[in-house]
Amino acid sequence: MCVLFVILCVPSLAIAQASYVGSAKCVSCHKAISETWKDTLHNKSQQALSPANDTVVVDWQGVVKLKAGKIPEATVKLHKDDKGTYHATLVDTKDTSRSVTYTIARTYGGWGWKQRYHVIIGNNHYILPIQWNQAALRWVPYNLQNWYNEDGSLKALSVKNSFEMKCAACHNTGLELKKVNDGYESKYLELNTGCEKCHGPGSLHVKSPKAKGKIVNPRKLAYERGLEVCGQCHNRGVSVPNGTFEFPWNDKDNKPYKLGEALSNYYQFKPGVWEDAASHSKHHHQQWIDLQKSKHFKAKITCYDCHSAHGGPGRFQLTKADFNNNLCLSCHGKDKRFSSPAAIRNHTKHNYAPETTGQGRCSGCHMVKTASSAEAGDIHSHDFKIIKPSVSLGMFKKDPQNVLPNSCSGCHKDWVKDQAGYELAASIFDVFFGK
Ligand code: HEC
Ligand code: HEC
Ligand code: HEC
Ligand code: HEC
Ligand code: HEC
Ligand code: HEC
Ligand code: HEC
Ligand code: HEC
Repeated sequence: MCVLFVILCVPSLAIAQASYVGSAKCVSCHKAISETWKDTLHNKSQQALSPANDTVVVDWQGVVKLKAGKIPEATVKLHKDDKGTYHATLVDTKDTSRSVTYTIARTYGGWGWKQRYHVIIGNNHYILPIQWNQAALRWVPYNLQNWYNEDGSLKALSVKNSFEMKCAACHNTGLELKKVNDGYESKYLELNTGCEKCHGPGSLHVKSPKAKGKIVNPRKLAYERGLEVCGQCHNRGVSVPNGTFEFPWNDKDNKPYKLGEALSNYYQFKPGVWEDAASHSKHHHQQWIDLQKSKHFKAKITCYDCHSAHGGPGRFQLTKADFNNNLCLSCHGKDKRFSSPAAIRNHTKHNYAPETTGQGRCSGCHMVKTASSAEAGDIHSHDFKIIKPSVSLGMFKKDPQNVLPNSCSGCHKDWVKDQAGYELAASIFDVFFGK
């Protein structure tokens, strides 16, 4: 009878479902971690805009003119009212007597690169077609085609282009989606990447912190499951089985990805890659796809061996600095080929000055910035593979506008100017490193 009792007992325990409580609850007991996490881009990228939390980084007034593709130049008027609320008016280019005014609900970014603006239409969020580039101090169009027809008239927005359907699971914590007529609406607990996005819902752990198994520690999961904690967002593809969303989700049962389960149950690959043989990433957030092509994956190196999950002082949350090779040499330095500057000189055929000229910096050759220049050009390939100049040369000959950067082009700008440059680089590479 005892056996029967146990069997009856176990399911009732499993039924006790944890729910999301929010990062604020975790802070009280995990102070040190919270201190660094709060300053990460994981936590602060999106901000709910209000007079008390005024995160707009640009002087919000005047008229913005935008041009993209075949759409005639569009006009957007900016206005901040007496109460401190921000508005944007999109003017119909075909019939200038028509316009629609939106109130800005939240900002995305503004931490040095660029800022975008969300507005609410119905129960969904949409991203305005204006983007402020902080470095260049200018407005640029962002998906103008979602808002304007090619004749310049304003377009009825498709819910398929809403933040909820295209972006939310990678940019919110505790997301739930509700099916409505022609799309989905969302509810979430936190606007950004909160503790529970990487640790799972925490209500049971908060109740009994010492009890085992109530909260996920990615490090204690099987290697691949732990990697997928980061992979759920640093990835590109569509939901399973119908491809309704551009993020991991079970779109048949309308269920979010659950930490510890195989991500492939929620996600089908649809990476954005170059047409070279090794299919290097062309767009951002694909580090997880890249890493799986590297020997680092076979050696069970995880994202959080190189990046501090909770942030810290370093650039890109790195555990050790990259510019001086400290990160790479913390593991590879034991290898004879990299155990001294002389050995590294031999490997790289360059002087050794990673901190100053960049010569001999491992990531310079092994983590090429492969994003197309139209996108953020600062996305490092995470397959750690050398890209030979001959690969770029082949692509240049076919289409000079569509060329994969290579392991030498990041520093040797002369070699990407024209075909002669690519040819020189290819021949020098062969002399240095063999074909
Ligand atoms: C009441 C205090 C308290 C709160 C609130 C709390 N924790 Fe904890 N947490 C602890 C203690 C104590 C431990 C260490 C338990 C042990 O070592 O047995 C712990 C351990 C952990 C671990 C490591 C578990 C492991 O198996 O290695 C994680 C991850 C964690 N907490 C995350 C969270 C998150 C996320 C939240 C918010 C949802 C949270 N904690 C809220 C007290 C708390
Ligand atoms: C981006 C994902 C991510 C977020 C967000 C995150 N963590 Fe973690 N956390 C991890 C990973 C990965 C580990 C394992 C780190 C390791 O072993 O190197 C971890 C480990 C922990 C641990 C146990 C080991 C330790 O370092 O003490 C605690 C406790 C913890 N996290 C609490 C929190 C709390 C509290 C928050 C929010 C303030 C938070 N985490 C936010 C990914 C995350
Ligand atoms: C909820 C989805 C999500 C998860 C889970 C997630 N990330 Fe991120 N990560 C993001 C987003 C979004 C950004 C970019 C924020 C921005 O630039 O506004 C980002 C940025 C980063 C950055 C760049 C930080 C910088 O300073 O430029 C690193 C490094 C990073 N993530 C590593 C990790 C690691 C490691 C894990 C797993 C422990 C992880 N992420 C889990 C969504 C996620
Ligand atoms: C599959 C997950 C995923 C989806 C879907 C996704 N993002 Fe992201 N996003 C990320 C990650 C991860 C980063 C961090 C950059 C990186 O890892 O390369 C990021 C970075 C960003 C950034 C900061 C970098 C930049 O380009 O300025 C913005 C803004 C952004 N996302 C907006 C969006 C919007 C808007 C959508 C929907 C149209 C969206 N994202 C869909 C995962 C995702
Ligand atoms: C072997 C070390 C290593 C591993 C493993 C690693 N990264 Fe990185 N990552 C780096 C370095 C180095 C940079 C570039 C930093 C710089 O230029 O200063 C970087 C940059 C980034 C950035 C900033 C944007 C970009 O692409 O340049 C993000 C986001 C990121 N990594 C996420 C991840 C995720 C997610 C994983 C796991 C799938 C991961 N990384 C695994 C070393 C690593
Ligand atoms: C946490 C330890 C660790 C760190 C940090 C690390 N590596 Fe590795 N790396 C390994 C291991 C283990 C292997 C697999 C065994 C081998 O080939 O030596 C490996 C393999 C490689 C390979 C062979 C790759 C292939 O996929 O064909 C390259 C190249 C490489 N690492 C470059 C780097 C660079 C560049 C950095 C710094 C950005 C770095 N590694 C940081 C542990 C590490
Ligand atoms: C000037 C460019 C350059 C720099 C800088 C560079 N490497 Fe390499 N590395 C190469 C080339 C070329 C190969 C051969 C790759 C191939 O055949 O695909 C290679 C191969 C490797 C391999 C794989 C060897 C194998 O067993 O297959 C490792 C590991 C490696 N490098 C680590 C490093 C480390 C660590 C650093 C920094 C100390 C570094 N590299 C700096 C160009 C470079
Ligand atoms: C991180 C930056 C960086 C990368 C990546 C890099 N180099 Fe260099 N390289 C340099 C610097 C700096 C010099 C010194 C230039 C000088 O003295 O004027 C140099 C010098 C050279 C020279 C000597 C001739 C000259 O132009 O001054 C050759 C040849 C060379 N590199 C080949 C390569 C090849 C082939 C690759 C790709 C495998 C490569 N480099 C990748 C930074 C880099």
